[in-house]
Amino acid sequence: MTSLAQGLERNGGTALCPGSYDPVTFGHLDIIGRAASVFDQVIVGVVDQPVRKQKTVFTADERVAFIEPEVAELGNVQVKTFGTLLVDFAREHGARAIVKGLRAISDFEYEFEMNQLNRKLAPDIESIYLMATPQFSFLSSSGIKELAMFGGDTSGLAPDAVAEALQERLQK
Ligand code: PNS
Repeated sequence: MTSLAQGLERNGGTALCPGSYDPVTFGHLDIIGRAASVFDQVIVGVVDQPVRKQKTVFTADERVAFIEPEVAELGNVQVKTFGTLLVDFAREHGARAIVKGLRAISDFEYEFEMNQLNRKLAPDIESIYLMATPQFSFLSSSGIKELAMFGGDTSGLAPDAVAEALQERLQK
């Protein structure tokens, strides 16, 4: 058997889908669902406080609570918060893969840098990128926050509970 064939025989193991998820969008849920169809287990890692971004609108517990009901029916997805290095969190949960979504070229530079840093820290953990489904390729958490702030309609972009919470918290 070739090494490639041996590789294909292995099961998918555990993948980590990390992010700020402030708040989760249908774009994130698409990536999580696709990861869950390839890997045996998926851990959605919600960072407590992202270092490179402004203070989050929602607490980590709120962000987890938005995601949990949306992934419940997948059956192999758990949602957890973390406040450590991503690769340490991945190791803690036996994840050998970090799965992230890529929407446009503009995502590439940031993801490339993160990839190199994570690779330096943990060469044994592979980062894998899923291309956004076209209908979600324009969608971002910042975009829906801005929409909500100015009273725009966020339905169809994020779960109803998120759209309602955004309206309540951000609408001027
Ligand atoms: O959704 P985001 O904001 O792109 O997610 C960013 C996240 C959570 C992946 C990133 O902030 C992160 O990995 N934070 C943990 C600290 C870390 O390990 N940073 C990368 C190496 S310095």
